[in-house]
Amino acid sequence: MNSKIAGLGYYVPENVVTNNDLTQYMDTSDEWIQERTGIQERRYASKHSESTTSMAKFASEIAIERAGISKEDIDFIIFATLSPDYYFPGCGVLLQRELGITKTEIGALDIRNQCSGFVYGLSVADQFIKSGMYKNILLVGSEKHSMGLDYTTRGRNVTVIFGDGAGAAVIQPEEDDSKGILTTHLHSDGTHAEELAFISPGAHGGYFGDTEKYGFPGEDTPGGLFVTQKMMDEGMIFPNMNGQLVFKNAVVRFARVIKEALAKTGLSGDEISLLVPHQANLRISQFVQKSFGLRDDQVYNNIQKYGNTTAASIPIALTEAWEEGKVNEGDLVCLAAFGSGFTWGSALIRW
Ligand code: UT7
Repeated sequence: MNSKIAGLGYYVPENVVTNNDLTQYMDTSDEWIQERTGIQERRYASKHSESTTSMAKFASEIAIERAGISKEDIDFIIFATLSPDYYFPGCGVLLQRELGITKTEIGALDIRNQCSGFVYGLSVADQFIKSGMYKNILLVGSEKHSMGLDYTTRGRNVTVIFGDGAGAAVIQPEEDDSKGILTTHLHSDGTHAEELAFISPGAHGGYFGDTEKYGFPGEDTPGGLFVTQKMMDEGMIFPNMNGQLVFKNAVVRFARVIKEALAKTGLSGDEISLLVPHQANLRISQFVQKSFGLRDDQVYNNIQKYGNTTAASIPIALTEAWEEGKVNEGDLVCLAAFGSGFTWGSALIRW
């Protein structure tokens, strides 16, 4: 038995933030952002009336309806995010509560794999369906990045890239083993963990590096503190990225993990009907497209409108593509992602 995506949904906040809007806060320009990333605008959630979970809820309700089931049929939740509402508990249980499906006491799993979170979640869901453990898994990627970015020039290389939004999928069994999720491939390499990271607040206490750099966390408490004044003063409470290193690793590993999926299934690149890459940077997607010789209509990109929405980017793009009639029965759809960790992965789906 295979598993399949039976319903898709997405939600993006109404508030559009253009590149020019960001120039009010930092030294950047529409020209620089478009040239280096392809991004024209992104969405920001309402500070107080929207959250990672609330966006996930809207996306989930659409996916559940399109799968032709009711909320009560969901037997497991997988939630991928790097911007959870709380440090703990994770968003999985919050989504369960917000959807009002607490009576069935289903399991909820949170995935912390950043940009590859949706592909990792899809692979986990696929194994659970194949083993017969669950029949209607709700898989969500949702991010509210806007609340944790450095809006000064110091943070411009990261801040201009990210946007908010959520995407959801319902995963069900597929009796026809020539259809559904054909294969998934997951990888990681922690060598460069800190090169794209949101390090503090965290429990590291300086363990992986220079304690001085972070300011000794909580010298006057027995256990230390997650956040120190020094961390706040020096902007260590924001994500940081070595963009060039990430870019170089991304282009190589995107291509390699797609090739791996094709080799496993005996398919070739030109048989891909639609590649939906994680929307990290339009230049990365174009590089991958070129390396497989794919036409423009074989690759779906929407980073221009939404920026990089991390775990939400693939399900948002896949849903939009499906809504636009670009994903049809019999199509070979390829998903691929690379990001912080580094972690990366791919999936091939016969729709
Ligand atoms: O989804 C997670 C995975 N993330 C990625 O895949 C991101 C991969 N990396 C990238 O997309 C690119 O590296 C960036 C778009 C982040 C940066 O582009 P880049 O061409 O690698 O620029 P850079 O970091 O090498 O910086 C070049 C220059 C620097 O100025 P100097 O030192 O040459 O004077 C930066 O300070 O551009 C400057 N810069 C900016 N200028 C205007 C960096 N960010 C900005 C900005 N606006 N927003």
